[in-house]
Amino acid sequence: MDKKVAIVTGGGSGIGQAISERLIRNGMHVVIADINQANIDATLAKFNADGENATGYRLDITQRDAVLAFAASVNEKFGHIDVLINNAGITRYTPFYEADDSAWDPVVNLDLKAVFYCSQAVARYMVAQKGGKIVNISSSLGTGTSPHHTAGSPGGSAAYASAKAGVIQLTKTLARELGPDNINVNCIAPGFFLTPMTGATRSPEQVADHIRARTEMAVLKRPGNLKELAGVVSFLCSEDSDFVTGHTIHVDGGRSDRM
Ligand SMILES: NC(=O)c1ccc[n+]([C@@H]2O[C@H](COP(=O)([O-])OP(=O)(O)OC[C@H]3O[C@@H](n4cnc5c(N)ncnc54)[C@H](O)[C@@H]3O)[C@@H](O)[C@H]2O)c1
Repeated sequence: MDKKVAIVTGGGSGIGQAISERLIRNGMHVVIADINQANIDATLAKFNADGENATGYRLDITQRDAVLAFAASVNEKFGHIDVLINNAGITRYTPFYEADDSAWDPVVNLDLKAVFYCSQAVARYMVAQKGGKIVNISSSLGTGTSPHHTAGSPGGSAAYASAKAGVIQLTKTLARELGPDNINVNCIAPGFFLTPMTGATRSPEQVADHIRARTEMAVLKRPGNLKELAGVVSFLCSEDSDFVTGHTIHVDGGRSDRM
């Protein structure tokens, strides 16, 4: 395929869908890897209305063998993989003293370990072709902390914050290791963006409280627009950022709770 090929994990919803839309607008073919078939179908219907702009794969990225087979089949089908966006993630808010393995493992397995699986699976093809761009999606909570219970979050976020901090350090480490093969690895730490994730663990009253608290926290005094996030990812996938690697860009409206 002549077009550049970008894999977006979790591309069937929210931030991943907005990034996919922007990369298609930039002329790339997007491969959406998502666990939710309904999300994939709805997204492909939207993106492919005017041509073959995107392909969908139902994939649980926490399954290592499935991720390896997926990357191999994408590379075989298109002949190259130019961009990987490690975006899929979940939150589970559990008070720290109540958190057991069942609260901790699903979050860390998806938000951190699967970034390792997907990056490793794709990097072998990028190394062979001597080029590529990897963008990881961390969070404001990867460096900061937030009040809970009072901010529409029904519990603590130790697992999520730990995983997202790990993604920032994984970004730096991979940038160093893959740099000699002309692969850029960068990271985005989003602040608050209204997506299906926002309501996944909250009641409607808690969502309203969350929006109010996050709006107050940002110096720009508003939630982010998904296009504003996708635009920064677009920069990190373009030749304009060829000399940028190992960085985390906070796209958060100037959140004041960074520590
Ligand atoms: N929304 C925010 O305000 C915000 C803030 C900071 C960071 N983030 C991060 O941005 C990323 C996207 O968040 P979002 O708000 O768009 O969430 P979302 O829930 O709208 O979308 C997540 C997508 O990931 C997919 N997914 C879940 N588990 C998967 C798995 N095992 N394998 C493959 N796909 C899987 C889901 O099906 C869904 O399509 C996440 O990593 C999240 O932590 C979001």
